[in-house]
Amino acid sequence: MNILMAASECVPFVKIGGLADVVGTLPNYLQRLGNDVRIILPKYKSIDDKKYKLETLPLKLSVDVAGNKESFNIKTCKTSQVTVYFIDNMHFFYRDGIYGSDFGDFGDNRERYIFFCKAVLESAKALGFKPDIIHCHDWQTGLIPAYLKTVMKYDKFFWKTSTVFSIHNIAYQGSFAADTVVAAGFSWQDFTPDKLEFYNKVNFMKCAISLSDAVSTVSPTYSLEIKEFNGLGMEVVLNSRQDKIYGILNGIDYDYWNPKKDKNIAANFSKEDLSGKKTCKSDLQSLCGLEMNPNTYLFGCVSRLDHQKGFDIIIDAMYKLKNENMQFVILGSGDRSIRYELEKAASQMKNIAVFFDYNEVLSHKIYAGIDAYMMPSRFEPCGLSQMIALSYAGIPIVNRTGGLSDTIVYYNHFSKEGNGFTFNITYGENFVQTIYKSEKIFRDKNNWNTLVNNAINCKFSWDNSAIQYNEIYKNLSAYKEF
Ligand code: ADP
Ligand code: GLC
Repeated sequence: MNILMAASECVPFVKIGGLADVVGTLPNYLQRLGNDVRIILPKYKSIDDKKYKLETLPLKLSVDVAGNKESFNIKTCKTSQVTVYFIDNMHFFYRDGIYGSDFGDFGDNRERYIFFCKAVLESAKALGFKPDIIHCHDWQTGLIPAYLKTVMKYDKFFWKTSTVFSIHNIAYQGSFAADTVVAAGFSWQDFTPDKLEFYNKVNFMKCAISLSDAVSTVSPTYSLEIKEFNGLGMEVVLNSRQDKIYGILNGIDYDYWNPKKDKNIAANFSKEDLSGKKTCKSDLQSLCGLEMNPNTYLFGCVSRLDHQKGFDIIIDAMYKLKNENMQFVILGSGDRSIRYELEKAASQMKNIAVFFDYNEVLSHKIYAGIDAYMMPSRFEPCGLSQMIALSYAGIPIVNRTGGLSDTIVYYNHFSKEGNGFTFNITYGENFVQTIYKSEKIFRDKNNWNTLVNNAINCKFSWDNSAIQYNEIYKNLSAYKEF
């Protein structure tokens, strides 16, 4: 099958969060299943032409956005496995930042992603790449299924194209005023609750949920939660597509997140020989200006600074645990008020190190050096950080929600089963108490070694998930042929 993956992030080119990891990895596995997979992305200013050897194709294209003609080029490169296209337009993508600046989202995000959705469809035609499936990710690509079911319904080029829409985070929906109908070039006839309309607005995510041929989300538990209570207003829409919603757990790229050959960390280690982890811990403590004590229980967190991730819970815990033999290292970028609270905590307590940056190398050092990984997310569609932590023998302590419920099992020191520690905020269970319980195991070397061994042996590989996506694609294509 021909598969076009449309997304606003993809490693190694541009990354804000886990969406980029998924879009950069899943296509390789789908390609290995015999598909021709191509990825299509915006060409942001930060994507370096020289570094990725981008070539500009001899095509001059344009689409109409809010009454303006927007011209663009297509740039391309090949990763080790798949071809990647970049929609290149100065006006919308040559600026600092991806979705916004320090002061919030860009004011023209509506136009930017209307443009991107239209340009994706126009590019497929110009490239002569007839997709069996366009797999769209998150709200930024939400209008693609909508165009194909409305104004482009009779477009011969796409007659056998089906769309799959993956929800990575329902908290970001792309909701804009009703006049988006005009700006995006739809017809008012389609401004109805079953198509474009949602509370008298055009909500890109709702359009995609209603109008794509199949909807997936990134863990089985999140797929249930968003239908029942965590859909942020989208519950009814999701329930109307009940039979077409799939929960498929993400994996991680174990070639990349591999402590055995990771060049960013102070010493390599593996499940057979964990001794290098001790070196990574002391290296991280020294880099962070923390006391270099192997007996101190060292926690880490690498995350977007966002309400979702439960930073209020982490900060509260750090104050409550300030007199314990514990240290905390946090790397994050995002919300300024969270940054302020973290800075304040770090200025008051010597056992905390905070870094406000997007820093790939440091993130590896943190995963490799810590004993435990803090992830008290208030909600979590899947979560990759806890999987990464496991692969570097860091023990996740997580709130039991979404994908965290599907991946982390409380360590039972009788049966010796489990790979981390969980608590449930909704049931009033407490992060600090869970940390104390985990500390008991940390200080009991036999149990801790068993737990670490369980953790590093966990595998959330893409093989299985790619097969599940492939099945969805095959069923949709078979239906079109029919
Ligand atoms: P989300 O997608 O909600 O941000 P995930 O756990 O799915 O959360 O994925 C987060 C990914 O982004 C992980 O690969 C994590 O290591 C990475 N990451 C987040 N913040 C940073 C940062 N400041 N520097 C480096 N990597 C980061
Ligand atoms: C989103 C979610 C995260 C998920 C990632 C990749 O950013 O917040 O839980 O792991 O997408 O699907």
